[in-house]
Amino acid sequence: MIICVCRRISDRDIARHARAGMGFDEIQFELGVATQCGRCENCARDVITQCSATAPTAHLSLDAPVSKGKAWITSAA
Ligand code: FES
Repeated sequence: MIICVCRRISDRDIARHARAGMGFDEIQFELGVATQCGRCENCARDVITQCSATAPTAHLSLDAPVSKGKAWITSAA
């Protein structure tokens, strides 16, 4: 999806840079997002927040065998 219409920058472009550890200012300098009308700034910042390398991610613990987890039981008892 295009986030910045003025510069034709997609959410994928912004997310790729955010995942590489870049912040808004760096991405703005690199891609030019939010450098013309500025209407895309909040949306671009939201994408960066969601994709930031420092954003918390789900943690999957495999201490116990997966087959014994309740979430994986498919047959009714
Ligand atoms: S939509 Fe991004 S600067 Fe205008």
